[in-house]
Amino acid sequence: MKISKICCIGAGYVGGPTMAVIAQKCPEIKVTVVDINEARIAAWNDENLDNLPVYEPGLDKVVGEARGRNLFFSTQVDAAIQEAEMVFISVNTPTKTYGEGKGQAADLKWIELCARQIAAASDSDKIVVEKSTLPVRTAEAVKDILSNTGNGVKFQILSNPEFLAEGTAVEDLQQADRVLIGGENSPEGKEAIQALVDIYAHWIPRERILTTNVWSSELSKLTANAVLAQRVSSINALSELCEVTEADIDEVARAIGADSRIGGKFLKASVGFGGSCFQKDILNLVYISRSYGLTEVADYWEQVIKMNDHQKGRFARKIVKSLYNTVSGKKIAFLGWAFKKDTNDTRESAAIYVADQLLNEKAQISVFDPKVKYQQIQSDINYLQTRGKEENGALLESVADPYEACKDSHAVAILTEWDEFVQYDWKKIYDSMLKPAKIFDGRNILDHEQLREIGFRVYAIGKPLE
Ligand code: NAD
Ligand code: UDX
Repeated sequence: MKISKICCIGAGYVGGPTMAVIAQKCPEIKVTVVDINEARIAAWNDENLDNLPVYEPGLDKVVGEARGRNLFFSTQVDAAIQEAEMVFISVNTPTKTYGEGKGQAADLKWIELCARQIAAASDSDKIVVEKSTLPVRTAEAVKDILSNTGNGVKFQILSNPEFLAEGTAVEDLQQADRVLIGGENSPEGKEAIQALVDIYAHWIPRERILTTNVWSSELSKLTANAVLAQRVSSINALSELCEVTEADIDEVARAIGADSRIGGKFLKASVGFGGSCFQKDILNLVYISRSYGLTEVADYWEQVIKMNDHQKGRFARKIVKSLYNTVSGKKIAFLGWAFKKDTNDTRESAAIYVADQLLNEKAQISVFDPKVKYQQIQSDINYLQTRGKEENGALLESVADPYEACKDSHAVAILTEWDEFVQYDWKKIYDSMLKPAKIFDGRNILDHEQLREIGFRVYAIGKPLE
């Protein structure tokens, strides 16, 4: 089967970049990305490519090349479903905030709505592709909804989880380590798998396109994120041990990473992992394991989250302790608010939780982030409902100039590893701060020796103190 029209439901961090790259690489396929969020679609259609709703290096170029040619963004969901032979579901699947499984299970409300909408809008056979990250066996529910429409239309369900990381989305999509496609082991299932393989084969070497059964594919996505997050929690756990034993976590990471069985990537100690995926997907894995009665399996993975919470908490406590156990009324500068560099995404960012803890102590926080706006910062902190909006507004500000954020502060905390932070004039920052001037490097990106020569007192993750 040859696909000539694709529809993708959900124009978010995954749907937008993924479809842009498919459109770029497959100029003969018409790709329409739809969303119910009108503002988001308007931003994707904005003539000025600086205003795209997702910031990703290189994305403006890809969208600029394909948009209007074979890439379209629209709010006409039904029309796009109807004309497509292949429909991707790339909507959000956040952690449930109510009812059974609250705080752990994935909320599949939006997935079910999509399935029902596809069922209602279709008058020809379609391949439905799960792009969202879903609990293992979700395809069963999607199939059940789609196969009971009574209008004779046939659907094949594929699982095609997305492994891109934010900040490197375009590169990850263009040069994926692997593409995973799960489908039914029937002649129709195999035909559907092949149709999707043919799309990716436009630019991904065939040996990197892995095909499996649907359940392996669904579970592999949760597993990949769990194992990656586990590496970060493992190195972060050891960072605390380094601080009391005078070992240096970066040296330890390099030494163990040189073992080719371990590998050097994803061993950077930090203030804690964030992002929309790791915590949500592990909680989901924990929930699924518990629901099958696998208590030890659930407890094992839950520890990865507990360690991460501990890391964020102890970073905040370290700041308070070293400012003589009181930060009330003291200005503390935050460099970075995004959950990692090169993205404007702040979901589950460690900065939010560190700030919340310091605000409990009545600190005055001044944030500078190259890509995150004031309103987002306020909405992130208000979302926690720890205190009222007015109090948050009074205690937490954001400024457009890093030097202004640091001026008159007692301490600077690095929360995101933006490259530009390394290049700042740290002598100038030192001179503008209250003394003793302190730096808490939550990402271990600065030159600590040099900072100490300037006069700073430096605290870094997993490093011996002065
Ligand atoms: P997102 O919140 O940025 O985007 C989802 C979009 O879907 C929103 O714009 C929302 O308005 C839209 N939507 C929801 N219901 C809809 C409906 N019925 N009709 C039309 N539009 C609808 O989410 P995201 O970060 O793109 O994540 C999407 C999925 O991909 C999630 O399952 C996530 O776990 C997974 N994922 C995310 C990443 C990542 O880095 N963000 C990476 C891999 C996988
Ligand atoms: C992750 C997965 O990497 C990706 O494959 C999946 O599709 C979505 O979830 P993402 O959350 O975008 O991607 O970013 P990632 O680079 O994995 O970083 C996640 C968090 O871990 C960030 O807060 C990052 O700063 C932190 N991290 C990562 C570390 O603290 N140390 C590391 O060594 C690596």
